[in-house]
Amino acid sequence: MGFYADHVFPYLMDWTMGTRRFRELRQQSLAAAKGSVLEIGFGTGLNLPHYPATVTDLTVIDPAVLLPKKVLTRLAATSIPIHVTHVNAERLPFENCLFDCVVSTWTLCTIPNAVAALREVRRVLKPDGAYLFLEHGRSDDAGVAAWQDRLNPLQQKLGCGCNLNRPIDALVRKAGLHVHHLERFVFSGVPRIVGEMYRGTATAARAESA
Ligand SMILES: C[S@@+](CC[C@H](N)C(=O)[O-])C[C@H]1O[C@@H](n2cnc3c(N)ncnc32)[C@H](O)[C@@H]1O
Repeated sequence: MGFYADHVFPYLMDWTMGTRRFRELRQQSLAAAKGSVLEIGFGTGLNLPHYPATVTDLTVIDPAVLLPKKVLTRLAATSIPIHVTHVNAERLPFENCLFDCVVSTWTLCTIPNAVAALREVRRVLKPDGAYLFLEHGRSDDAGVAAWQDRLNPLQQKLGCGCNLNRPIDALVRKAGLHVHHLERFVFSGVPRIVGEMYRGTATAARAESA
């Protein structure tokens, strides 16, 4: 992967995404997680302290092995049984309808084929399960979106594959998931091109109206 991707970016990511404001958002989004949970794009395990006691077991996947010592410490501090697998979200090695809940935080920006990954999320979710997402993406403001498009090639390099301009809710719907709840807000304290947040819940089945 290269020196920057292997030895610099993981520390930068862990540091910038572990601040108080990020922790608050993680806590709020994960409060609804319950039962058997799958997290895609686990990263350095920054979500681990925020899973509530309603989670019975946790499976986490990420193709990368990032800051392994730090991850081991975080895993050891968690009382929930955890299974870690290093695979791509585009092809999950799990049977259909297995999980009560699937979680992604700031990951759909980076997965090369986000729609393929979301189709997998849909496949592995139980019919009454929930997909909880907290992501950054494309702005609804045309001026901001234009800057996101302009700076996306640079961001892909600096952010090791991260895209600024993905329309997250449209991708979730394109994969056949049903969005039941969607909040859009701007994360203060970071440049707006990276601060356009999408927080929501989707399901595999169209049980309740969106
Ligand atoms: C910006 S980081 C976010 C990490 C973590 N979700 C968090 O909230 O701190 C994006 C993560 O997506 C992971 N990723 C990249 N390609 C992926 C893929 N094909 N499937 C699953 N995860 C992937 C990266 O390795 C990285 O850990």
